[in-house]
Amino acid sequence: MSKPLNILFVSSEVEPFAKTGGLADVSGTLPQVIKDQGHEIRIIMPRYGSISERKFKLHDVIRLKDIEVPIGKEKKIANVNSSFIANVKSKVQVYFLANKELYERPGIYTSPDSKKDYVDNDVRFIFFCRGVLETLKRLGWQPDIIHCNDWQTGLIPAYIKTMYNHDPFFKNIKTVFTIHNLAYQGTFPAAAFDKTGLPEAEFGKEGVEFFGKLNFMKAGLVYSDVITTVSEKYAEEICSTEEFGCGLEGVLQKRKSQLHGIINGIDYNIWNPETDELIIKRYDMRTLEGKQDNKKELLAKFGLAYKVNVPLVGIISRLVDQKGLDLIKEIADDFMKLDVQFVMLAAGEKRYQDYFESLHKKYAAKMGLFIGYNDELAHLIEAGCDMYLMPSRYEPCGLNQLYSLKYGTVPIVRATGGLDDTIHDVESGNGNGFKFKKYDSKELFKTIQRALKMYHDTAAWKKIMKNGMQQDFSWESSAKKYTNLYRNLVKQ
Ligand code: ADP
Ligand code: GLC
Repeated sequence: MSKPLNILFVSSEVEPFAKTGGLADVSGTLPQVIKDQGHEIRIIMPRYGSISERKFKLHDVIRLKDIEVPIGKEKKIANVNSSFIANVKSKVQVYFLANKELYERPGIYTSPDSKKDYVDNDVRFIFFCRGVLETLKRLGWQPDIIHCNDWQTGLIPAYIKTMYNHDPFFKNIKTVFTIHNLAYQGTFPAAAFDKTGLPEAEFGKEGVEFFGKLNFMKAGLVYSDVITTVSEKYAEEICSTEEFGCGLEGVLQKRKSQLHGIINGIDYNIWNPETDELIIKRYDMRTLEGKQDNKKELLAKFGLAYKVNVPLVGIISRLVDQKGLDLIKEIADDFMKLDVQFVMLAAGEKRYQDYFESLHKKYAAKMGLFIGYNDELAHLIEAGCDMYLMPSRYEPCGLNQLYSLKYGTVPIVRATGGLDDTIHDVESGNGNGFKFKKYDSKELFKTIQRALKMYHDTAAWKKIMKNGMQQDFSWESSAKKYTNLYRNLVKQ
């Protein structure tokens, strides 16, 4: 057996502490699986105001009191709290980097009232990136690998390769940077660069500068030792065109040999119809009738009538351009005229919220809408629906189509990123869902019609459900891919 590795996993969202999307699901589970595989891994995230001290039994780490973090010419003070996440096998320590002024707010990145990004997000995440390194030093715990995730952690590889490189404590630490979504880059006016404390020379084309601005994501891509992203298809897409690469395609092409696509797994301790405590009736492949009880409960929750043989289509989504909502808008009237019912759980941009509210008013007898964040309802939608709609414009991995497969809820998706890698159209034989290629509302509509037709062939439909339910998207094999990457880096 080779020696266990020490890994620090850095993320701005970790389930169950703070979540806006799939990054939290990944950060809450992948480290546990890596620990189960025999490594020492710890997590660090910001201590947001929404994280309850009582619920999570947070305690101060005395050794980590009053750490000074330079921000430009100023110094801000960080304190560190700690808690754990645990599964049946192992416990992972989670550190929370605390600073009241920066993190004690109702939102994670944006103000829930104005729906605008906090204006000092540059300082909040410069403080986080630098604070993480200062914490390690104070702790005296020297990981082999720092695994960074998304733009909020992008400066860490830049610090390690430049300023902190002169310190023997950091000299041998390797960094892995995972892209969960390239469209969110953390770009700030050039003046923000001075607050980073990075050497002047790094603010250039080969460094953290992007069209005159500070770009956190670019920093992660340029300075990390290895880059990963969350599906093989998305890894190809982001190098190929500006549409997917969001302007960073050139930077990625240069690093193509160090870019790896590793598909996300899912946590079957949380998302599993056989054990899910948040649904009305538990079921598996042999007891599919149980799904009907969940469908009844879900429809009742939305005040909709239960109708035998009328398929129920569901969506759980952030309301952002990424998710293909404009395609749904274009076909909405035709879709609602079909013999279907439709439920949606979503939160995000106001223009989409207003639109779906108006659609709901128009079709109140067939459509249910919940605007907001609701974990319990998300589980019931996965269990109670017959089909799950995900026509994304782009999708780095996507988790809801994977949850849907496990719950026997047949996905209808656009062939992009992780959706393309995980959903196989029934037309190709033994498929687990329905898929269309072109980002076009007519294609989406035809695909929905195809699914509805198939739904009424009960035997064929059950076969599709079972094909999905049988698949295994647990984390073990993807976690191994990460630890192999870590291992190769440590050898270098
Ligand atoms: P993304 O991270 O791009 O939003 P994913 O499919 O990777 O997409 O992950 C989304 C995660 O967030 C899933 O766990 C999903 O159930 C959850 N989610 C999204 N919107 C809501 C909501 N309004 N309420 C509850 N959970 C939500
Ligand atoms: C991002 C992506 C999503 C992915 C998630 C977790 O939010 O939009 O596709 O599943 O990260 O990696």
